[in-house]
Amino acid sequence: MLDIHTHVLPGLDDGARDFDESLEIIKKYINNGYDGVIATPHHYRGRYIPSKEEIIKSRDLLLNQLKKLKIDFDIYLGNEIFFEENTINELENKEVFTIAGSRYILIEFPFLGKINYAHSLIYQIQLSGFMPIIAHVERYQVTEEEFEFMEKIYNAGALFQVNLSSLKDPSSKEYKLVNKILDRDMVQFVATDTHSLNKRNPDVKDELNYLKNKMGERWYQEVVIDNPYKVINGEFVRKTEIKESLEKNKKKSFFEKIFRRN
Ligand SMILES: [Fe+2]
Repeated sequence: MLDIHTHVLPGLDDGARDFDESLEIIKKYINNGYDGVIATPHHYRGRYIPSKEEIIKSRDLLLNQLKKLKIDFDIYLGNEIFFEENTINELENKEVFTIAGSRYILIEFPFLGKINYAHSLIYQIQLSGFMPIIAHVERYQVTEEEFEFMEKIYNAGALFQVNLSSLKDPSSKEYKLVNKILDRDMVQFVATDTHSLNKRNPDVKDELNYLKNKMGERWYQEVVIDNPYKVINGEFVRKTEIKESLEKNKKKSFFEKIFRRN
């Protein structure tokens, strides 16, 4: 199993502080059934802009330590890119990491769901030759009416990633939204978004079991296990059509239902 979103590399952003913490996090990954990660340090102007060289150096030092300890664990490189006006230029000039050198990028948007041109940004990114994976979509607090923006962005071609940690607290807004997005079959990736041993960490066995029960074995194999490897191999990741909500479906007439094409 491969985690596509993590801040496990030390000293680059608000993730792991030092190599000791990174090593402890990796041990936790292994205990939870992971063989590797795509390290995605923040690329967020005004907050964290580690250079590509710093990221490579941090990864190489960590891999060396793992080798010494005879711990077998893969670390691919990426970035969690905070979208701003310069992002497409930076991508074209190779100033940020795509995921493991593929066309896939992990991206977060300011105020997604609140800006009505978000879907056109998704088109622009694709026209520049990149495939956007939207990080932790459930953390954009969209209201019931604003959910249409989610659908628009999804239909514009974005792939959706949700955080496993959002399934921890059933009373949270994120829990409700992540379940809604799952019910509508709009999820292509789940990830830990690990920042430390405590905050969003790799202890996700319960959440993975929850997903297996809720979504079934086939979905689990495709989304949880296979899709991250498809990304690092530059292969196509399948998206499903948005499932209609139960309420909407109930409102449809008998004839509309029997004449539905799919
Ligand atoms: Fe993150």
